[in-house]
Amino acid sequence: MTEPLIARWHEEIEDKLADRIIGWRRYLHQRPELSFEEKQTAAFIAAELEKLELEVRTNVGGGGVVGVLRGSHPGPTIALRADFDALPIQDEKQTAYTSTVPGVMHACGHDGHTASLLGVATLLSEQREQLHGTLVFLFQHAEEKPPGGAQAMIADGCLDGVDAVFGIHLATDLPVGHFGFCSGSFMAAVDAFTLRVEGRGGHAARPHETVDSIAIACGLVGQLQQIVSRRVNPLQPAVVSIGKIQGGTAFNVIAEKTLLEGTVRSFDPEVRDLVEQELRTIADGAARASHAAIHIDYLRGYPALVNHDKETSIARDAIAGTIPGAVITELDRRMGAEDFAYYLQHKPGSFFQVGARGTDERTHYPHHHPRFDIDERALALSAKAFLSIVGHYLTR
Ligand code: NI
Repeated sequence: MTEPLIARWHEEIEDKLADRIIGWRRYLHQRPELSFEEKQTAAFIAAELEKLELEVRTNVGGGGVVGVLRGSHPGPTIALRADFDALPIQDEKQTAYTSTVPGVMHACGHDGHTASLLGVATLLSEQREQLHGTLVFLFQHAEEKPPGGAQAMIADGCLDGVDAVFGIHLATDLPVGHFGFCSGSFMAAVDAFTLRVEGRGGHAARPHETVDSIAIACGLVGQLQQIVSRRVNPLQPAVVSIGKIQGGTAFNVIAEKTLLEGTVRSFDPEVRDLVEQELRTIADGAARASHAAIHIDYLRGYPALVNHDKETSIARDAIAGTIPGAVITELDRRMGAEDFAYYLQHKPGSFFQVGARGTDERTHYPHHHPRFDIDERALALSAKAFLSIVGHYLTR
C-alpha cells in the first residue's frame, strides 16, 4: 500500500512546506533573470539543494543545476524538471513581490515551477528510507530562448541512467485544481526565418529604374500563405506567420532593402521539411522574377513535444488517485513550443499542465503578459502532482 504514504507527503506539503514554496517563488519573482543569464537563480537553487545533502552539479549544459537524491532501496530513476528563466517584459502588476529588475519579469510561471520542485526535493530528502530508486531534479535554464537549455543539459549527461522524465507547466487558462494532459503530440515544432530582400533604390517617380524591395516583400507575404493553404496536406496542422516587416525611409523613395521575419509551426517532421523547402523555393523564385537578391536565414528551433502514452497515463492516474478533488482535463494539442520536447526524444515521459487560474482577476492574464500572475495555491498542487508520480514509481 503506497497511497497512505503519498497522502502523508501531501499533508506535509500543506502543513510544513506550502508557505516556504510561496516564499521561494516570491523571492525568485522579485529577482528574474533572462535566458542564459540566470547566474543568481542557479546559485540560489544549488545552495538550497546543498542544504538537503543532495548530489549537486552546477553549470550543467552551461547554466543548469541537477540534484540527485538516492533512495535507501534499489529501484528506477525518475527525473523531474523545472525551468527557471524569465522574460524581457516590464512587470506592470502592483504586488509585494513585483519584479525589482526593470524590463525583466517571470511572466510565464517558471519561478513557480522551480519553487514547487524545491519543495519536492526538500520533502523527499527526509524520506530516503521510503524511496526505492533515485530521483533526478532537473533545474533548467533558458527555456524561453532557442537553442534553449534542455538540449545542452542532455548532452552534458543529465538524463544518463534516467528511466522516465516528467515536467509541468503552470497555466492561467486552467482553473486551480485542474490538471491538463495530452497524450501523443502536444506542442508544435518551432522554426524562425528571416528574409532580406535586396533590390535597387531610387526615386519613387521612376520605378522602372529601381528594384522595389517593398513591393517584392509584400508579394512574398501573400505567396508564403499559400504554403499552408496549397502545399501542406490540410489534415496536417501548420502555421506560417510573418511577425515583422521593415523597410523604407520616405514616401517618395523606393526602398532598397526590406526585411521580413516570421515563424513556422508544425508537428509532422515531413511537414516541417516541406514548409522550409517551399519557403526557399518561393523566395528564390521571387528573387529571379524580380531581379532582386533575397537572403534566407532559416533557424530550426525546438522539435514537436510528443508525450508518451504510458507515462502520461501513469501521471494522470497517479494524480487523479491521490489528490482529492483533482480535475483531470484532456487538452488539445497546441501550436506553442517548449524545449521539454528534447527530454522526450531521449526518454519516455510526460509534460502536463497545472491549473493556476483563481477567482481573482489578477490571475486571469495570459502567459507573457506584463500583468501575468498565478494563484499561488497552484504551487502546492504542483508539488503534490510531482509527489504522486514519485509515489507511483519509487514506493513499491
Ligand atoms: Ni513557459
